[in-house]
Amino acid sequence: MVTPRLELQGITKRFGHVAALRDVHLAAYAGQILAVVGDNGAGKSSLIRTISGVYRPDEGTVRVDGVEQVFTNPAAARSAGIATVFQDLALIEVLDVATNMFIGQYPRRGPFVRRRTMERETRAFLDELGVSVASVRTEIGMLSGGQRQIVAIARAMRTGGRIVLLDEPTAALGVRETAQAADMIRTLRERGNAVIIVSHDMSLVFDLADRIQVMRLGRVAGVRERAQTTRDEIIGLITGALAGDEGSAPADTAA
Ligand SMILES: Nc1ncnc2c1ncn2[C@@H]1O[C@H](COP(=O)(O)OP(=O)(O)O)[C@@H](O)[C@H]1O
Ligand SMILES: [Mg+2]
Repeated sequence: MVTPRLELQGITKRFGHVAALRDVHLAAYAGQILAVVGDNGAGKSSLIRTISGVYRPDEGTVRVDGVEQVFTNPAAARSAGIATVFQDLALIEVLDVATNMFIGQYPRRGPFVRRRTMERETRAFLDELGVSVASVRTEIGMLSGGQRQIVAIARAMRTGGRIVLLDEPTAALGVRETAQAADMIRTLRERGNAVIIVSHDMSLVFDLADRIQVMRLGRVAGVRERAQTTRDEIIGLITGALAGDEGSAPADTAA
């Protein structure tokens, strides 16, 4: 059996009386895309934030390549190879594209940030991806929502995490930008990353995913191979019209 690049077991995360996640298992493999789907409030973003070190789980374990990890903050998750594109982006609006691409990892010579190197590498990297921004000196705040999202995905690709998490990466994108983001996500898979994408877009999910994990009320309602399921089945698991595999008692009433 192949060891998952990323594996969660029994993850529970509570906020007061609300259990955002309850006994959640997840396995993501190198060179595969796992889509995580579910209704609003199902726990998808909490799951991403737990994996990326923003939240500490109350129970359960996180393993990377079979080794248990405890992430006390996002930097710890990043150094374990986890790159995240958050739903709310977390790009810094007053900084330019090149600086955002290198946040926390500026190329330096002594105390000086190597600005030209940063700009040159950003330009080369975006060109290689076919991403069009007029100038790498443009402040992020000046870009359209779609362009920002593409830059955020590009940054996750550049930082070269071996695990890439994307929370609703196409929610703000038009048709063409969505296609571009989909290509970038396929590239991440081809480079051998374990990719986890949260999305409401069923066309995108069925287009990209190797496996689909359905969350409902903080629990895992089911995991399916893309090739062995249908939209109807996935939507049934999302809404609860189909009974989940592990039972799906409402998060606030279960023991
Ligand atoms: N920081 C938080 N504080 C309190 N409750 C939260 C917090 N984050 C998430 N929740 C709650 O956890 C549940 C799951 O939310 P979330 O993970 O954002 O779901 P999704 O991304 O699937 O829409 C919701 O009931 C939400 O209100
Ligand atoms: Mg969310």
